[in-house]
Amino acid sequence: MHKLLIRGGKRLSGRVKVSGAKNACLPILAATLLTEQRCLISNVPALKDVETMLSILESLGRRVKRRGGDIEIDQGGVTEVTARYDLVRTMRASIAVLGPLLARYGEARVSFPGGCVIGPRPIDLHLKGLRELGAQITVEEGYIVARAKKLKGARVYLGGHFGSSVLATANTMMAAVMASGETVIEDAACEPEITDLASFLSGMGADIDGAGTPTIRIRGVKSLSGTEHRVIFDRIEAGTYMMAALITDGKLDILGADISHNIALVDKIREIGGMVKEGPEGVSVSRRSRKIKPADITTFTYPGFPTDLQAQMMSLVSISGGISVITEKVYPERFIHISELNRMGANIILEGATAIVKGVGRLSGAPVMASDLRASAALVLAALVAEGDTEISRIYHLDRGYERIEEKLSGVGADIRRVEE
Ligand code: EPU
Repeated sequence: MHKLLIRGGKRLSGRVKVSGAKNACLPILAATLLTEQRCLISNVPALKDVETMLSILESLGRRVKRRGGDIEIDQGGVTEVTARYDLVRTMRASIAVLGPLLARYGEARVSFPGGCVIGPRPIDLHLKGLRELGAQITVEEGYIVARAKKLKGARVYLGGHFGSSVLATANTMMAAVMASGETVIEDAACEPEITDLASFLSGMGADIDGAGTPTIRIRGVKSLSGTEHRVIFDRIEAGTYMMAALITDGKLDILGADISHNIALVDKIREIGGMVKEGPEGVSVSRRSRKIKPADITTFTYPGFPTDLQAQMMSLVSISGGISVITEKVYPERFIHISELNRMGANIILEGATAIVKGVGRLSGAPVMASDLRASAALVLAALVAEGDTEISRIYHLDRGYERIEEKLSGVGADIRRVEE
């Protein structure tokens, strides 16, 4: 196992390049199951979660070739319709193979994804979407088993207790593209990752309108072909580097970052005294005011403030000159980072799904433990500004979602090293 050693206090400056979006490429890779023809996907980040998805595709009979960020997938040996427990249990996004397997083969068996450190993550909306298209769904020996002789287009309402769901929208879209007739998904997720999936599916010959809005219309087609696609840049990684510039009082040019995908974050950054300038290659971020100002932040589905940037924002406002209030409306239990940030000198208390963050003059380095992907990124940000040394263990979480983070950060002046634990 690896850990990160970070000596805080360095101002970051220079250019950092954003990788392809993990959460866009996972459903896109799953969507390659919809065709027997060759698909070429580029700008795919080298991440643990991507490896897991590729292993699942191989276990389902696909042949996968990887050259850097380019992935070629085609029909390999015998087709399997079971996504095994040993692969699925390491990544919840594996559920994204359910819709395409069902659409293509009339049957899918996907291990039931377990609990998750960021709180309960039910799959009722995934199952609802598929049922409304005509699938029979049972749970057998820990597997979700979906069967349908022929899926039929339907009007599907996918609003849930916490708003729309990204992967439930993706699963329903992938099941609907070859269903007979028209499907209308209402209260669909509007995240850019859904728009990217729709553009991949359209490249395969699917007939989809409205992706990126709450109403997606899909007219089923008989079959889909192979295609080539370049994955969008990772808005969460970009947002994390924007906050790295601000927390260290540095200036970063973040290549590939797209303001339109991070509009809620950019709005907050401007409110707390940061400056974001758009350029031809990305954005440039630095402070406008000497000190970070406090802010009230509530996470929502897109285009609201993303839950995947909540922990990093908490690190940033923990050094502000006042009190910030951060409320989680997507995953009300996603606050495990608070105790580790407090170990570094932050002053944060939790009241239900709301964190009250009293700005402190300084953070100090400490041994801390990463608990999930975005919480780990929050600890890295805190460590960059803390006085002294921070040791972050269990960074395998970070490797699930940030490509070469220590290389990228040391390239812009951070004192950061990866060592064996
Ligand atoms: N929900 C339900 N029922 C469902 C599905 C979801 O109630 O059937 C609830 C969830 O419990 C949550 C809310 O709906 O309260 C939103 O969850 P969503 O389904 O949108 O999450 P997801 O699609 O499983 C993706 C990202 C997450 C990100 C969320 C929210 C991928 C692979 N994962 O998950 O990313 O936090 O959307 O934006 O796209 C991460 O990258 O660190 C990460 C956790």
